[in-house]
Amino acid sequence: MYLRSLFSTTGKQLSHRTASQTSWLRQFASGHREIPALTKERYPSIKRGQFSEVSDSDVAQFESILGGSNRVLTQPEEIQGYNIDYLGSVRGFSRVVLKPKSTDEVSEILRYCNERKLAVCPQGGNTGLVGGSVPVFDEIVISLQLMDKIERIDEYSGILVCQSGCVLETLEQKAAEKGLVMPLDLGAKGSCHIGGNVSTNAGGLRLVRYGNLHGSVLGVEAVTADGRIMDLMSNFKKDNTGYHLKHLFIGSEGTLGVITRLSIFCPTASKSVNVAFLGLENYESVKNTFLAAKQGLGEILSSCEMIDALSLESSTYHFNLQSPIDKYPFYMLIETSGSNMNHDEEKLTNFLTSAMEKGLVIDGTVTNEPTKMRNIWKLRELIADSLINDGYCFKYDISLPLDNFYDIVLAVRERVGPLATKVTGYGHIGDSNLHLNVSCSKYGTEIHKLLEPYVYEYTSNVRGSVSAEHGIGFLKTKYLKYSKRPESLALMHQLKQLMDPNGILNPYKVLPQV
Ligand code: FAD
Ligand code: MLT
Ligand code: ZN
Repeated sequence: MYLRSLFSTTGKQLSHRTASQTSWLRQFASGHREIPALTKERYPSIKRGQFSEVSDSDVAQFESILGGSNRVLTQPEEIQGYNIDYLGSVRGFSRVVLKPKSTDEVSEILRYCNERKLAVCPQGGNTGLVGGSVPVFDEIVISLQLMDKIERIDEYSGILVCQSGCVLETLEQKAAEKGLVMPLDLGAKGSCHIGGNVSTNAGGLRLVRYGNLHGSVLGVEAVTADGRIMDLMSNFKKDNTGYHLKHLFIGSEGTLGVITRLSIFCPTASKSVNVAFLGLENYESVKNTFLAAKQGLGEILSSCEMIDALSLESSTYHFNLQSPIDKYPFYMLIETSGSNMNHDEEKLTNFLTSAMEKGLVIDGTVTNEPTKMRNIWKLRELIADSLINDGYCFKYDISLPLDNFYDIVLAVRERVGPLATKVTGYGHIGDSNLHLNVSCSKYGTEIHKLLEPYVYEYTSNVRGSVSAEHGIGFLKTKYLKYSKRPESLALMHQLKQLMDPNGILNPYKVLPQV
């Protein structure tokens, strides 16, 4: 009886909305969310560095580098969106946004800024969740938006070469036309850039299958603070020639260079994809279902996500979606990708039958129909967007041992009590990555103080990571010490000093101010 309900695909048509359509601009403009306080006011202990201020002659120089004024934005209404982050948690007051189209232009801009000691903030799709993508004070924004050329996609080698401002979803579509798949996927794909993904070493929904970007990125071209172009564009998987400099740019969040071009290995697209959406009674069952999935599905497991009841309630409510099953304390989204439908279905059937017989999974639905799979994925991908709809959301993206994985959600819920509208937990359980989110009607210092450093101390005590995939940006610099030993921190400062002696590249980010 269970099996039949398990394999009957649900035919509900869900409404369509992507992350890119719910930009901060629309949300703030509709009065639904508050324009955040200036970062220098919300975080008064941060002091502006000894940088020059942009003058009219600087603007004229940028216009001459970029061939006119239409790629040098200076009007306040044009640049407001570049000063506020996606979460509405930080706000800078840059006066200038530059939009280069080529590596040479980026190089000229940086050489000039370095000589003039003008600080810059590289910006991709501005979907970052740690306040790294917008200026803290008046740093010049270098937007990579116009660097969106795909140079080559080779189906034989699987190598895609492009400029860093390409939108992830566009790359996914172009790769699919060649029978390939991008090695990363995330809810912000409609807006985020591949350069932003690599700069943050973004994880996402299929890391469990394809690993992180340190493996998939074969080559990087980046411009350093003094304008030097580092051509590290290897086209081969194997290249052991000295220090692997490209890794310095992957995950350094624009503090060591501006990434301009990339070469990425794209695996062959799977012919057979299935998505299962499961209901479970408790966290222990989630953990054991993950183990059973790893053991039973092996190489075809391509995603393993956990969602708690409040998270699902939030995405279904705010986006008018309908879950194919309800109501359970926990849900799991398990995806398989393989090359043989019969083989994959047999594996999935065996795994699910056994999980249900053991009482791990109570109910669920499985589908291989593209529209239905997309609709199930929306339930998960739109959680992040839905949680900021309450007004403000404190986001914690932590790696934790699976034994203690969900306890922190319960502990924080009790700690903040009615100060929060909801405290939820979801995430990439396949990678031990929990997204702990605390939504409230608006930003408040009382709840902020209850949450930090508490969440980071808790994480450090179980030897977790204070940032699993979103990076450090501006919001977490104080807490880097919970995951990095003093010797490592000292080496990071030395590297920064070596590569950017004037400190112009994305100052106040990643490294704590000394
Ligand atoms: P931005 O936000 O513009 O910038 C991020 C950082 O990179 C900044 O420090 C910026 O200075 C730097 N940067 C950007 N471009 C360059 C460049 N070309 N050269 C040098 N530095 C640069 N993250 C995950 O890891 N996994 C997820 O599953 C995930 N899901 C998300 C879902 C939603 C709905 C949202 C809103 C965000 C999500 N994120 C996720 C966070 C975010 O999307 C990623 O960090 C993304 O990789 C950022 O890309 P971006 O182009 O928007 O970069
Ligand atoms: C996700 O997995 O949905 C993202 O990392 C965004 C978030 O933390 O909400
Ligand atoms: Zn995530």
